Amino acid sequence: MIHTNLKKKFSYFVLVFLLFAVICVWKKGSYEALRLQAKEFQVSRLAVGSGFQSMSTSSKQDPKQDSHILRHLRGTANVRSPPSSYQVWDKDSSAKNLNPRLQKILKNYLNMNKYKVSYKGPGPGVKLSAEALRCHLRDHVNVSMVEATDFPFNTSEWKGYLPKENIRTKAGPWRRCAVVSSAGSLKSSQLGKEIDNHDAVLRFNGAPIANFQQDVGTKTTIRLMNSQLITTEKQFLKNSLYHEGTLIVWDPSLYHADIPSWYKKPDYNFFEIYKNYRKLYPNQPFYMLRPQMPWELWDIMQEISPDWIQPNPPSSGMLGIIIMMTLCDQVDIYEFLPSKRKTDMCYYHQSFFDSACTMGAYHPLLFEKNLVKHLNEGTDEDIYLFGKATLSGFRSIKC
Ligand SMILES: *[C@@H]1O[C@H](CO)[C@@H](O)[C@H](O)[C@H]1NC(C)=O
Ligand SMILES: *[C@@H]1O[C@H](CO)[C@@H](O)[C@H](O)[C@H]1NC(C)=O
Repeated sequence: MIHTNLKKKFSYFVLVFLLFAVICVWKKGSYEALRLQAKEFQVSRLAVGSGFQSMSTSSKQDPKQDSHILRHLRGTANVRSPPSSYQVWDKDSSAKNLNPRLQKILKNYLNMNKYKVSYKGPGPGVKLSAEALRCHLRDHVNVSMVEATDFPFNTSEWKGYLPKENIRTKAGPWRRCAVVSSAGSLKSSQLGKEIDNHDAVLRFNGAPIANFQQDVGTKTTIRLMNSQLITTEKQFLKNSLYHEGTLIVWDPSLYHADIPSWYKKPDYNFFEIYKNYRKLYPNQPFYMLRPQMPWELWDIMQEISPDWIQPNPPSSGMLGIIIMMTLCDQVDIYEFLPSKRKTDMCYYHQSFFDSACTMGAYHPLLFEKNLVKHLNEGTDEDIYLFGKATLSGFRSIKC
C-alpha cells in the first residue's frame, strides 16, 4: 500500500516536472530551440567520438545553461539513438548504397540509354580535390541560354520571342544566393527568414510559397522549370506563381546534340506554350537553357563518380546550383543534402512518398549529392540541422 502510494506520488512529480519543462522550452521560441538543437548536435558528436564518458563530461561543463530535464533528455537521446543518426551525406556514396529496387532501376536506365550517351572522357572514378573540381566545372560547363541568333530561333517564326538581353545583364552578379530545393524535409524547417536573407533566391518548377513562407521564404528571383512542367501544368499561363522573377526552362536533348537537332526532337515539345507565355508576359525575362549545358555537367559527374551513373540528364536541382554558381559569389543550398528531417516525402507541398526522390531513379541524384558534399565549404552541423550546404561561386575562385 505504502509502496504504491509512493509510486503514484513519484509519477505525479515526474509528470508535473515534465509539463513544466515542456512549457519552458516552448516559451523560449524557435530560435532558442534551434540553438539547443545545435548544442545537442555537438554533444552527440562528442558522444559518438569517444563514448559515454565524454558525453557526461560535456554536460558537466555547462551546468548553468542546462536544466536537469534537458540534460536527462539529451542523455537518453544519446543512449537510444544509434550514432549513425547524426551522420550526414557521405561524399563517397556508391550505387551499392541504393536499395535493391533503385539499383535495378539504375541498371535498366543504363541498358535503355535513351539519350544515346557515348561517354569518351576520363574515369569513372577520377579523384579531384574540391578546388580542382570547382575549376573543372567552371571551365567546362558553359552556362548560357539559347539566343535569338541561334538557328532556328533566328527565323521569322521566332522573331521577337527570345529575350533580347543576355541573362547576365538581367540576373546578378550577386553576393549571396539561396537555392531552395522542393524536398519534403523543408516542411517545418522554419528556414524562411534565413532563405529570404539572400540577395537572390532560386526555386524549382511549381514549388509554391503561399502557406509555406515560414519554411521556404517568400522571395523568388529565378525559377528553373523543366519542359515537362510547362507542357503539362494546366495553370502555367494563369498561375501568378510564375509571374515573379526570371524564368528559365530546360529540356533534355540527345547526348551533346546541337540546338537544331534538339529543336527537331525535344523531350517535351514546349515551344508553342513558351511562345504563348511570351505573348502574354513579354516583359518578364524568360530564357531557354542551352541544351548542351546539362550534358557538359553530366560528363564531369561521370568522370568523378565511382560507378557508371544514369545516362540521363542531371536534375533541375543540380542544374540550378551550377546556374547560381555562375551568377553569385556564394551559394547556400537548402535540403539538397538531407538534414535530420530527411524523409521519403518527395515535396514539401505534396504528400507523396518515394525513396527515389532522395536517392534518384531517373536522375543521377546520388552522384549529384556526392558532388555537392565534396564541394561543400559549410559544416556538417549546418547540413544536419538545416540541410544547408555552402558552395563558392565561380566568380570568386582562382584557378
Ligand atoms: C558558351 O556558349 C555560348 C553560346 O553558344 C558561346 O557564345 C560562348 O562562346 C561559350 N563560352 C565558352 C566559354 O565556351
Ligand atoms: C540563321 O542562322 C543560320 C545558322 O547560323 C544561318 O545559316 C541563317 O542564314 C540564319 N538565318 C537568318 C534568317 O538570319
